[in-house]
Amino acid sequence: MKILITGGAGFIGSHVVRLFVNKYPNYQIYNLDKLTYAGNLENLTDIEHKENYSFLKGDITDAAYLDEIFGNYKFDAVIHLAAESHVDRSIADPLAFVQTNVIGTVNLLLAVKKHWADDLEKHLFYHISTDEVYGSLGEDGLFTEETPYDPRSPYSASKASSDHFVRAWYHTYGLPVKISNCSNNYGPNHFPEKLIPLAINNIKNERPVPVYGKGENVRDWLYVLDHARAIDVIFHNGKVGDTYNIGGINEWKNLDLIELLCDVMDEKLGREKGHSRKLITFVKDRAGHDLRYAIDSSKLVNELGWKPSVTFEEGLSKTVDWYLENNEWLEHVTSGNYTHYYEEQYTNR
Ligand code: NAD
Ligand code: DAU
Repeated sequence: MKILITGGAGFIGSHVVRLFVNKYPNYQIYNLDKLTYAGNLENLTDIEHKENYSFLKGDITDAAYLDEIFGNYKFDAVIHLAAESHVDRSIADPLAFVQTNVIGTVNLLLAVKKHWADDLEKHLFYHISTDEVYGSLGEDGLFTEETPYDPRSPYSASKASSDHFVRAWYHTYGLPVKISNCSNNYGPNHFPEKLIPLAINNIKNERPVPVYGKGENVRDWLYVLDHARAIDVIFHNGKVGDTYNIGGINEWKNLDLIELLCDVMDEKLGREKGHSRKLITFVKDRAGHDLRYAIDSSKLVNELGWKPSVTFEEGLSKTVDWYLENNEWLEHVTSGNYTHYYEEQYTNR
């Protein structure tokens, strides 16, 4: 089977690519990525020479490029992760999110409609989405697959739009599709603009740790490898046309999470307990900041037998260890040096 994974040089995509390349040596995995600021081939150095892995540098907003690669490689399935993914950036530059998340997704759907037309039913388009499409919860309740869409940020509006287009292709053209909506991921290779890696980097360097508003917003955190495992299970066993919610059953208020992280890092760095908490700095709140996300993933658990395998204590400890051990990765990402890796490793071959 030939699988096109988009966004495979990013945070979650790199874990999905690695899992598929290692677990399924008979599959040919093609990683299509534009290598934006968030795409980093240093995330995949351990598998880049495997025979069943290929990297394709390209932009999903480029319809002619997609037409060319779908014609050349004859993919059997697509797992679509490529996206602009950071809410704060979407507030500053919404159009970039419309371009990649909406137009880019529709371009992919047009390419599959054209290239899979003769035997559409033998193919699969699996779209990776977010719980943010459901909006914001109050103190109680969980997002289910039936929760009406209510996106509130430019990021979540663009992801909701892409979900609708994927479903439209299922209903209108009969394209076999699957969609999953996941909660907040954390773990190795997370770009240090997002809360957990940003806080780890700042605590390590004794810099202020910005907490938006009063730190009362709640997120449901899932270790990234558990998300990759869920994607594997849904890709192979999920029902065509269905949606699956994926969550960690692991809700944390931002301030509680940051305090815990400070304590974990004080212990690992041999600092006095309470030292890093002094770095916590309350800053202006995010515009339109969703109060609470929490996912009911019982459909995935009951129908497909998936459940999170890593506890938050374990996952956070592993994540902190990874960032402390991978100074070079962090230094390259924060300095921008990682962008040279593609030129060095790929263009001179
Ligand atoms: P990321 O920002 O780390 O990675 C995105 C990847 O997409 C990068 O490698 C980037 O280079 C690539 N990309 C961006 N624009 C592109 C384009 N026009 N053409 C080709 N490639 C392009 O994102 P992530 O956190 O790994 O998220 C991956 C997917 O999972 C996204 O669709 C996101 O909406 C979804 N998701 C993320 C989370 C989370 O907590 N991070 C949770 C649920 C769902
Ligand atoms: O829920 C899934 C979503 O989770 C994904 O779809 C997104 O791609 C991903 O970025 C993430 O979105 P969030 O906005 O929840 O993640 P972020 O790490 O940016 O912020 C987590 C919480 O922490 C949120 O309430 C905002 C807050 N925050 C964030 C940053 C970067 C801070 O308090 N300080 C910060 O510096």
